[in-house]
Amino acid sequence: MQQNYQPIGVFDSGYGGLTILKSIVARLPQYDYIYLGDNARTPYGSRSFDVVYDYTRQAVSKLFSMDCRLVILACNTASAKALRSIQQNDLPLNYPERRVLGVIRPSVEQIPLYTKTGHIGVLGTAGTVLSESYPLEIAKISGEHLSVTQEACPMWVPLVENDELDNPAADYFVRKNIRNLFRRDPKIDTVILGCTHYPLLRKTIDKYIPLHVKVLEQGPVVAESLADYLVRHPEIDQQCSKRGSVRYFTTESADNFETRAGLFMGHPLSAEKIQL
Ligand code: DGL
Repeated sequence: MQQNYQPIGVFDSGYGGLTILKSIVARLPQYDYIYLGDNARTPYGSRSFDVVYDYTRQAVSKLFSMDCRLVILACNTASAKALRSIQQNDLPLNYPERRVLGVIRPSVEQIPLYTKTGHIGVLGTAGTVLSESYPLEIAKISGEHLSVTQEACPMWVPLVENDELDNPAADYFVRKNIRNLFRRDPKIDTVILGCTHYPLLRKTIDKYIPLHVKVLEQGPVVAESLADYLVRHPEIDQQCSKRGSVRYFTTESADNFETRAGLFMGHPLSAEKIQL
């Protein structure tokens, strides 16, 4: 029987969520996906709770209107500021059969496998850091055993969004924030890249992270967690169509998106511009 087209939605404020999408597609190639980047309104990291919630809600509604039954917020800022309200208020009221998942919880669940000193560093946007989502989630899984030091890196997302990865300014800001983090807690042995844009700066990040420190990148972790979720929730899995397709939507210029996203995904792709 021909299955309806019911893709999994993957949302980010811009290009960062592609780091999650790439891992998810590699791990679960059989599903259909829609990627939505709100490039016109990026970055979200410096915006207020209300604005991030509002923008994220608009994006999720758009993906639901495109027949997604399951949406991944491939954005830490949206996961920190909007996920809980969407899960607790919007879904039960308007979409009781649909699901929205974030990237913070699956990342935090990995930490005990990474750290030996119990000292964790989190690099994220100002919004993610101020929300305290990482310290709170980490405390939930480990009690008070783990020490968490956060560093907001407000310049990193604009560098990625503006294709300035190789600009000396990228080197300057990455070094500055990483040095700040380790100055505040030299015992850190695990650093979470708590923003989906940051893996795109990985080459520069690796120059400044001490060699003995483990870096937790979210793509593979979120992909594995989604695979596990779909096994545990066959009622959702059955609603996700499986023809192995990926479609791309952006709120900014489709041409720009095609060029940048194509380079990152490693193959040409076509994108459509939409309004939220
Ligand atoms: N990629 C996003 C995150 O993981 C958001 C960055 C932004 O728009 O500031 O936080």
